[in-house]
Amino acid sequence: MNSNFIDNEQNIYQHAPAAEPERQLYFMEKARTLLKARFESMLASGEALNQYGQEMLDKMISRQAYGTFCIQTFGCQMNAKDSEKLAGILESIGFIEVDTETADFVLYNTCTVRENANLRVYGRLGQLGALKKKHPRMMIALCGCMMQEKEVVEKLKKSYRFVDLIFGTHNIYQLAELIYRRLNQKKMVVEVWEGTDKIVENLPAERKYAFKSGVNIMFGCNNFCSYCIVPYVRGRERSRNPEEIIKEVERLAADGVVEVMLLGQNVNSYGKNLEHPISFAELLRQVEQVEGIRRIRFMTSHPKDLSDELIAVMKESKKICPHLHLPLQSGSSRILKVMNRKYTKEQYLELASKIKKEVPGISLTTDIIVGFPGETEEDFLETMDVVEKVGFDSAFTFIYSKRTGTPAAAMENQVPEAVVKDRFDRLLKLVQETGSRVSGREVHTVQEVLVEEINDHDSSLVTGRLGNNTVVHFPGDASLIGTIVKVSLDEFKGFYYMGTMQP
Ligand code: 5AD
Ligand code: SF4
Repeated sequence: MNSNFIDNEQNIYQHAPAAEPERQLYFMEKARTLLKARFESMLASGEALNQYGQEMLDKMISRQAYGTFCIQTFGCQMNAKDSEKLAGILESIGFIEVDTETADFVLYNTCTVRENANLRVYGRLGQLGALKKKHPRMMIALCGCMMQEKEVVEKLKKSYRFVDLIFGTHNIYQLAELIYRRLNQKKMVVEVWEGTDKIVENLPAERKYAFKSGVNIMFGCNNFCSYCIVPYVRGRERSRNPEEIIKEVERLAADGVVEVMLLGQNVNSYGKNLEHPISFAELLRQVEQVEGIRRIRFMTSHPKDLSDELIAVMKESKKICPHLHLPLQSGSSRILKVMNRKYTKEQYLELASKIKKEVPGISLTTDIIVGFPGETEEDFLETMDVVEKVGFDSAFTFIYSKRTGTPAAAMENQVPEAVVKDRFDRLLKLVQETGSRVSGREVHTVQEVLVEEINDHDSSLVTGRLGNNTVVHFPGDASLIGTIVKVSLDEFKGFYYMGTMQP
């Protein structure tokens, strides 16, 4: 796709501003000019009609868009948020979002937390390569956590030559510049940084939902749990300034957002390394003051850093949702030590019961890993015991996955697959039983529900969430989406409610 894209202006990089975000705004404009020129020549030759079809073409012309893009996001909420930023940049360049991979620009935002996430990307990429043979104009880009691994980039360079652009987790804000560079050179662009201390503010972002939004409050992780690759691919902990966060939340509220989810790998250590340190609890107090915001959520809390101050703020707050995601990982103090989690089984249990007492009705959810190296049947039974005692509303359960470069990958006593599978099945069963026993506690009460969408299976229903995150379906229409309404919870169905809206 590149031959008709060469920009004749030789000194483009010399003229580019050095400061961000001005530099990226400059490259958005430059890339947009190139894209527009290509689109106009496609229109003149009739190729545009073939490529996009009349309906899409009309839409593109009315929105002044000159190409299409599709982003596939793998992994966690952080990646979902990054994808919104990437979409914002692509729209500024003049691309319009479509949901098929026959787009002009296809971007995979990857995850590497467990090996099967990587395998899925390679599988999908193979199919995309075949598609590109039919649509040579297509540009394929890869970013996210997987790209921070040297072996991955080597493999892509060697065996996936059709990829156009590779970048990492630290420089997603550079997308416009990198696209511009790719449009002007014939070979693959690879720009992955090992780390950064930079946080670039004020670039455009596209929101997936009009009424709710994630807000990054910090990046990276300093905890080095021994199984986890995140600190290596997302880098050291960096907190955003509270002023920037509050400004963003105010902008969102002015734009109709009623629910924010504050995002970080370990929100409980927010603000410790700022020039003027502030606690996460204090940040929550400030977010609470923003008018228009009705619900505040956050993700993820590390048990070792969860303060009494935070519990007190949750207790007092009218807006912080009564839900806490508190990853357990294992219920065995011995395994927790080898995992480098810095708490014991007893400390976790004590924390959980304190939270439940202080914030009545709170929903607790968790992450658990089965089959960590050296895990014995006794260790596993300790995990089962914690699940019974805490009564989690739900839990994400994972089979331990060996990640190259982490301390646990070098441990010798890996647990045999069949043993892990058996434990995993037993844990899943217990988690489901516990969840369906405890999470229906509001049945036959009237609760506030934020309506999120039309029900997937039955269009006469809408789907929303309680403050504690439990899902509710009830009769309603699209006009309710984004509003908070009162719903009587008539029936509990294991992990969701059926309800009726109240006047
Ligand atoms: N294997 C399995 N699960 C893992 N997680 C992180 N690293 C691994 C790994 N190597 C899980 C943890 C974490 C969640 C996001 O992913 O439970 O909380
Ligand atoms: Fe990984 Fe532990 Fe950091 Fe969570 S706290 S991202 S599990 S290293």
